[in-house]
Amino acid sequence: MLDIHRFPDHPFADKLLQGIQGPAEVWMSHGDQVTGAAENFLVIGTTGTAPFAAVAHKDKPFFGIQLHPELTHTACGKDVLRNFVTNICQASPSWTMESFVEKEIARIQQIVGPTGRVIGAVSGGVDSTVAAKLMHEAIGDRFHAILVDNGVMRLDECANVKKMLVDKMGINLKIADASDLFLDRLAGVTDPEKKRKIIGNTFIEVFEAEAAIVDKECGGEIEYLLQGTLYPDVIESISFKGPSATIKTHHNVGGLLEDMKLKLIEPLRELFKDEVRELGRILGLDDELVWRHPFPGPGIAIRVLGEVTREQVQIARLADHIYIEEIKKGGYYRQISQAYAALLPIKAVGVMGDKRTYEQVIALRAVETTDFMSADVMIGAEWFLTLKRISSRIINEVKGVNRVVYDISSKPPATIEWE
Ligand code: XMP
Repeated sequence: MLDIHRFPDHPFADKLLQGIQGPAEVWMSHGDQVTGAAENFLVIGTTGTAPFAAVAHKDKPFFGIQLHPELTHTACGKDVLRNFVTNICQASPSWTMESFVEKEIARIQQIVGPTGRVIGAVSGGVDSTVAAKLMHEAIGDRFHAILVDNGVMRLDECANVKKMLVDKMGINLKIADASDLFLDRLAGVTDPEKKRKIIGNTFIEVFEAEAAIVDKECGGEIEYLLQGTLYPDVIESISFKGPSATIKTHHNVGGLLEDMKLKLIEPLRELFKDEVRELGRILGLDDELVWRHPFPGPGIAIRVLGEVTREQVQIARLADHIYIEEIKKGGYYRQISQAYAALLPIKAVGVMGDKRTYEQVIALRAVETTDFMSADVMIGAEWFLTLKRISSRIINEVKGVNRVVYDISSKPPATIEWE
């Protein structure tokens, strides 16, 4: 708990913690201990274990804190940051998403020029759809979207993406059906990292070939590549390149540009996920899309544990479709951050009518999280009743499945995806 020490006679020492009631709950990293404050500093905040949790310089507008204002558990964290930006730096909070849209469209138009063309991969997810919509607003048909069907997407995904992007938004979209190529290359592969690499590399190969065709069709005028990179991707790709170990290979950042002679445009690069959703809302995208759960680039391939075959993908796909349909019906979709069905590489005994069965097992996952770096399992008595209903539907409707389990592991130590 943070105790706040006020200095009403000092011209600015109280500005950082202004409006915050002490004692306030704050999270701190206790790996490091501040053992003293320099002579010119006043101690404006202390906790039972941190005698220098917040300090202010006596003469200059310099402040120091040991607590983590960015964590949701530090309830007053946003106030600390707001005080710093507005009271101390005296910046005015004039940034709005509407102004971002205007500026970003103008910036894209300026970069691309009156005749330039941009190409970009779309997936049906929020980020790439919002980026594509923004690009379409800026340069219309001079933006070319490509959807690569990798054979491990959700049920009817290509048709749904086409409906949304082409029919509703008027975006110039080409669908490249490479499902056989992906699935043939995945045959016999069980190692999760190998699956990811195969999908990542094949994606790049297919996308480059398609982009070359589109470029030829429009007279070689494609100069830019759109990527829906978000700020957390930027942070993660930096840490992936650094000394920290690769936990899972993310294929969607980097890679593509190495041999394509295209310049990169990343209009969402400075936005967090919630801001992209807000941007999508302002650009008039359907709520259904704006609130869509994330879906990994390697798709169902990392949700079919073990070997990925067409039959296994279809089982996982159907189970997932039922699961998500029931989640939406039950009104849980917005509360859950991400939910999906995985197909386990094991068989279990069951009984159907008066016959013994020996079939496969579906694992259901549903997590709540804000940043996807850590996540809690969705729990609740009503929710468990819904899960029970979902379990019966899956077993009745998906051939080859006779058992459904619910994954109750948090992240960490588990991850959101099984592979
Ligand atoms: P994990 O499993 O690492 O996942 O807890 C965190 C979030 O990232 C998604 N994810 C991916 N997304 N390409 C993606 O586009 C990937 O290779 C990939 N791997 C995991 C996962 O679905 C969750 O939202």
